[in-house]
Amino acid sequence: MVQRFEGRVAVITGGSSGIGLATARRLASEGAKVVIGDISAETGKAAADEVGGLFVQADVTDADQVEALFQTTVDTFGSVDVAFNNAGISPPEDDSILTTGIDAWEKVQKVNLTSVYLCCKAVLPHMQRQGKGSIINTASFVAVMGAATSQISYTASKGGVLAMSRELGVQFARENIRVNALCPGPVNTPLLKELFAKDPERAARRLVHVPVGRFAEPEEIAAAVAFLASDDASFITASQFLVDGGISGAYVTPL
Ligand SMILES: NC(=O)c1ccc[n+]([C@@H]2O[C@H](COP(=O)([O-])OP(=O)(O)OC[C@H]3O[C@@H](n4cnc5c(N)ncnc54)[C@H](O)[C@@H]3O)[C@@H](O)[C@H]2O)c1
Repeated sequence: MVQRFEGRVAVITGGSSGIGLATARRLASEGAKVVIGDISAETGKAAADEVGGLFVQADVTDADQVEALFQTTVDTFGSVDVAFNNAGISPPEDDSILTTGIDAWEKVQKVNLTSVYLCCKAVLPHMQRQGKGSIINTASFVAVMGAATSQISYTASKGGVLAMSRELGVQFARENIRVNALCPGPVNTPLLKELFAKDPERAARRLVHVPVGRFAEPEEIAAAVAFLASDDASFITASQFLVDGGISGAYVTPL
């Protein structure tokens, strides 16, 4: 494995599961010191131990805890070169606008969008001081496409992440800090598997839109994060980086 992150430090929020965990493994395998920031102590500690990194318990909706996550990282390892702001939720009570209450709306906005604001706000001064850094914020393909199977607050939150990342990418471009929005298509995570095992029709209705004919594996998303985080992506900033098996480009898909 190439060692693109030798001597570099990466913070991954939501790093104890799914896309975040796959990315922790990938960045560590390429030489990064990995800091897992997650609300879940048990899985977070296990993930950090597995990749020889550090676990910092943090609720990404809490400004003080987010500050402490990045400060602890810098105090422990001396820098923060990569911030993968990835923690997010998609609870079942977030559904059609007609049935989604204000509590569900606000909870999703806080965990998915306010968290990215807090993480970027906390990490940028460290990166400015260092004179370099790469921030990757997890949005989604639903930030660029509409779904009749709505999760209204989730979609709106990811649209916000996309717009915020673009603006930060532009604002900090001349300070050698890159900011990109990662837009994954549907990924084969335990949650998605469980949902579709219970309801195969629901899976089929979605799969028909995917030109490659399957959902992504978390490792395929992690590979894209590693690329965006590395110097290989040195001219890529303020982008909406779609890793979606062609969904957003498709009109008619293959049989
Ligand atoms: N799975 C998909 O199909 C898919 C597609 C597009 C985008 N995404 C996005 O990718 C990101 C990761 O998704 P995943 O499928 O790997 O999810 P996951 O549920 O497997 O992992 C999410 C992680 O975030 C942590 N987390 C939740 N709330 C938190 C909080 N308040 N503070 C700190 N940590 C918290 C959880 O403990 C968990 O470790 C999310 O932002 C999600 O919206 C997922």
